[in-house]
Amino acid sequence: MSGADVPSSLDLASVRTALGSETEYYSIVALAECDSTNSRLMAAAEAGANDGSVLVTDRQTAGRGRRGRTWHSSPDDSLTFSLLRRFPRDSEAPAALALVAGLAVARALDTLGLRKVTLKWPNDVLHEGGKLAGILIELQPGDLRSAVIGIGINLRLPPDLPEEVARLAATLDHQLPDIRRETVLGAVLHALSFVLRTYERHGFGALRAEWNVRDAYAGRLVEVRGENFRRSGICRGADSDGALLLEAGSATVRVIAGEVSLRTPGSGVP
Ligand code: BTN
Repeated sequence: MSGADVPSSLDLASVRTALGSETEYYSIVALAECDSTNSRLMAAAEAGANDGSVLVTDRQTAGRGRRGRTWHSSPDDSLTFSLLRRFPRDSEAPAALALVAGLAVARALDTLGLRKVTLKWPNDVLHEGGKLAGILIELQPGDLRSAVIGIGINLRLPPDLPEEVARLAATLDHQLPDIRRETVLGAVLHALSFVLRTYERHGFGALRAEWNVRDAYAGRLVEVRGENFRRSGICRGADSDGALLLEAGSATVRVIAGEVSLRTPGSGVP
């Protein structure tokens, strides 16, 4: 936090209560506004910030989504935060981290009473087909075991949200109208502690079955678009490294990066 920063009105004591036994691990800073919690935490990581540092904000002025997109967030309507996780020195770069973070969000929302939360590979959290939360993972360029996990969860739809974004979004308020940001933050950080520990010790293989049960597109015809390719097939979930398995004719293809969308049969993409 720099001298110019204004603290958020978020009640951190409530967050710590919701965190229960996991409260010791986290050091949480809450700001009224910042450009992007991911950008700020990436800079803090570079400057030596500790594992378990969390930055949460009421409003981002330059919130970032995947693939250079903008992430809209506003006080009261969204929960916006990032966590710095430093993986052990001898570990690999955490390739399946986006899937793991999605699973933590889904588990947390389950505990809060939101049923049927599903996951769209690699890192969207869906509810009734709409996007409820987005995740942006960024690795430190000089240290691929230091990761910033940025999470944005829609609590309710802000009135000024562009129509094309609102159409595809889901929000918590339909089923959990009185939910507080503090409660959601505590639940998600709590779940993150557990899934990250499992991932660190046993790899994504130990979480794969649970992820696949939540796979929003399991058994559906999908199209994956990458930088240089476009492929369609039946979605067969994630493998033990977190790659997407696509059944295309008699072959099963592994996809490690790309955007997945549902396809209607007969639309002609190979
Ligand atoms: C996506 O679905 O495109 C990912 C969206 C990630 C948004 C979160 S909000 C907190 C963190 N700070 C950012 O600037 N982005 C992530």
